[in-house]
Amino acid sequence: RSTSHVLHRPQLFDFHGVSMTNAFTDNWDNVQNFKARPDDILIATYPKAGTTWVSYIIDLLYFGHMGPDRQTSIPLYDRVPFLELYGKSCVVYVARNAKDNAVSYFHFERMNGGMPEPGDWSTFLQDFMAGKKVFGSWYDHVNGWWEKKQTHSNFHYMFYEDLIEDYEKEIDRLCSFLGLSPSVEEKERVRASVTFDSMKQNKMTNYSTVPVMNQEVSPFMRKGTTSCWQHKTTKNIKTKKQ
Ligand code: A3P
Repeated sequence: RSTSHVLHRPQLFDFHGVSMTNAFTDNWDNVQNFKARPDDILIATYPKAGTTWVSYIIDLLYFGHMGPDRQTSIPLYDRVPFLELYGKSCVVYVARNAKDNAVSYFHFERMNGGMPEPGDWSTFLQDFMAGKKVFGSWYDHVNGWWEKKQTHSNFHYMFYEDLIEDYEKEIDRLCSFLGLSPSVEEKERVRASVTFDSMKQNKMTNYSTVPVMNQEVSPFMRKGTTSCWQHKTTKNIKTKKQ
């Protein structure tokens, strides 16, 4: 049995107007003093919108040729570290449909002892819509970065759904923004590694190395699809009718 159930869940609190837990704010001085270099790349997403997927794609595009050690012994979250910051570097933003994002976030909070308790689905959804989740309101996040993109040329805005629908086209757009021109073989290698099934099997990308996550409650790599909220809604309606 995983230890995630016996751990004390963190409290949510208001941090400069955004709901947060201390894991993301304890290091705030360092985050504020961080000086980005122009060739740094910031990947920005609301939680559960495809952070892991796009981090892995970009890691492979840059470092896929570096031999197997990096890929087999360094978890992805160490290769592409989290940093709560907007710097002068390139920004790759990933947005996901609010409904799928909410369902994914609900299951993530259920399985992750490092996050506050989600409660049942309707409690979670109320809190999600009220912005009472770690990293605040989905709407403010997705909208705020969209507005920034209109005035900043160093911004690339992607959608999770586009990546599912036309992966090749989205990768070509991403590479053109990053100034990369991988060969057909390199692109195929990246493609094979970043499918949902490959990443679900891969210990370096499936978060199975994180003890507070109980993958038996819900796997980190859960469904990886669009419109999964419809199943959730249908299930709820059925439950209500019974
Ligand atoms: P689901 O819970 O809907 O399955 P993040 O990395 O921002 O925490 O987002 C996690 C979500 O992205 C999970 O969604 C996960 O399954 C999905 N995801 C991760 N890698 C993926 C891939 N290669 N293809 C499709 N979805 C992926």
